[in-house]
Order: sequence, then structure tokens, then C-alpha cells
Amino acid sequence: MVAGGVTVPAVRARKVAAGADPLVMVTAYDAPGARMVDDAGIDLILVGDSLSMVVLGYDDTLQVTVADLAHHTAAVARSAPRALVVADMPWLSYHTSAADTVANAGTLVRAGAAAVKIEGGRVRLPMVEALVAAEVPVMGHLGLTPQSFHVMGGFKVQGRKAEAADRLVDDALALVESGVFAIVVEGVPAELGARVTEAVPVPTIGIGAGPRCDGQVLVFHDLLGLDDRPAPRFVRRYASLKQEGTRAVAAFAADVRSGAFPSPEESYGGGAEP
Ligand code: KIV
Repeated sequence: MVAGGVTVPAVRARKVAAGADPLVMVTAYDAPGARMVDDAGIDLILVGDSLSMVVLGYDDTLQVTVADLAHHTAAVARSAPRALVVADMPWLSYHTSAADTVANAGTLVRAGAAAVKIEGGRVRLPMVEALVAAEVPVMGHLGLTPQSFHVMGGFKVQGRKAEAADRLVDDALALVESGVFAIVVEGVPAELGARVTEAVPVPTIGIGAGPRCDGQVLVFHDLLGLDDRPAPRFVRRYASLKQEGTRAVAAFAADVRSGAFPSPEESYGGGAEP
């Protein structure tokens, strides 16, 4: 979806310091989820590799493939959202060569993504440059990068020490120089989120990076409480749909067992009614 929808240049221009409204990004992985978040008027839909954990039941994001992300990106894109659709490039899809990176991004763009997101700093610059040269808009992702789970020794807040914080700001500037149009900043102290935001001319979209980013992103299932397991500190649950869903299914089960469902109105007669 492009006509009338949110575009990459429009997102790139959204700096709060320049008077813009904060960007709102939410993940979605299928058509009904995409319709729900798009109807809420958000700016960007991220088909995140969080797919691995929140939909497919794995313990980390390393398990999903380009084919998985393409499958779910296509489902989101079929809902023709107004929001800009960004697809995550999964682990190992942009690590081996620039040619593989561009080919894998092409699969996601052909599935319906308008842009891709990749994790990491300076080490990814050749891949960012190759994607930009191939006309694929790129969103960066710095800080707590879940695909580096093993290297980080778990899902840990990053950039607490001065040297690490300086490195992260340098990485952000280098990503901008290579052509990213926005940067997700995840799991860093709020002061560092603000510092990166001030340092770069493209919008930052925070998740666990404090309030002074140019926007915020949350995972669909976290925001809606579709899971009631303990969530990270940065998650705010705006609904408890796991509880509500379980209650509804239990009510259906009780009605079936008591004979209250289906009613005559919910059953077909022999006549011509639809
Ligand atoms: O995969 C994802 O959902 C993400 C967000 C947490 C930014 O990368």
C-alpha cells in the first residue's frame, strides 16, 4: 500500500525536536492484527522477528527464517494498511554477504514490505549500503539487539557504561551516514535514548529507551496482554486479552456442554433463510 499511505520520506522527517508528533509503531504478524493496529491510526507496522517468540512459541528470535517473515509480511500487506509496513530481516539473512542481504530483502519487499529493519551498528554498514543502493529503505536497530542474545549473555540493558554509550552514539551516526531512515533503540538507559535522538537527524523509535525518542514501539501481544507471562519493565499492557479470550472460550465450552449452544436462531431450518 502506498497511495495515501505513510511513506518512508514522511517517516524520515518525523523529528520531535523539529515539531513533529511522535511516531507510533506496533508489530503485527497477520491480516486481522494488521487491520486492528492500522484502524487505530498508527504510523508503522513492524512484522518483527518477535514472530518467533510471540507467535511461534520459541524462546528467542533466532529460529525464524526469511520464508517465515515473508509469509507473515504478505499476510499483513494483504490487509492493505495505511501504515508503513517494515519487515525484520531475520538472523543470518544479512550477515554473510551483501548479495545475500539484497536478495533476502528483495523477498521481503516482494512479499509486501516497504522497508526492512536490521540489527547492529558499524559491522552492518556494508549491508546497509548495499540495501540502500538496491533502493531498499533500511531501518536500523541498536542497543539490546535480540539476535545478539548469546553474545550479550541474555536480554540485558545495553550502554550503561560511558564507553558503550559513546560507541552506540557513534554507531547511530554511522548508520545514518550509510542511509538508514530511522533507528529503533532498544533496552538502553533513558539518558542514552535521549542522547542518540539528539545526535541523529533521522527519527529514533524507542522500546525500553525512555520517553525522549522520536517515537515508541511495542509488540502487539505485549500491548494487548495476549500473553500473561511476566513482561519486561518497558511493557505497558493496555488490555488483558488472554484473560478475556480464555473467559470467552470457557463460556462457549459451558454452553456446548449444557446444550445452550447453538440456539434455534443459530441453526438452519428447512426454509430459504440465509
Ligand atoms: O521483532 C520485534 O518485534 C522488534 C521490536 C521489539 C522492535 O524488533
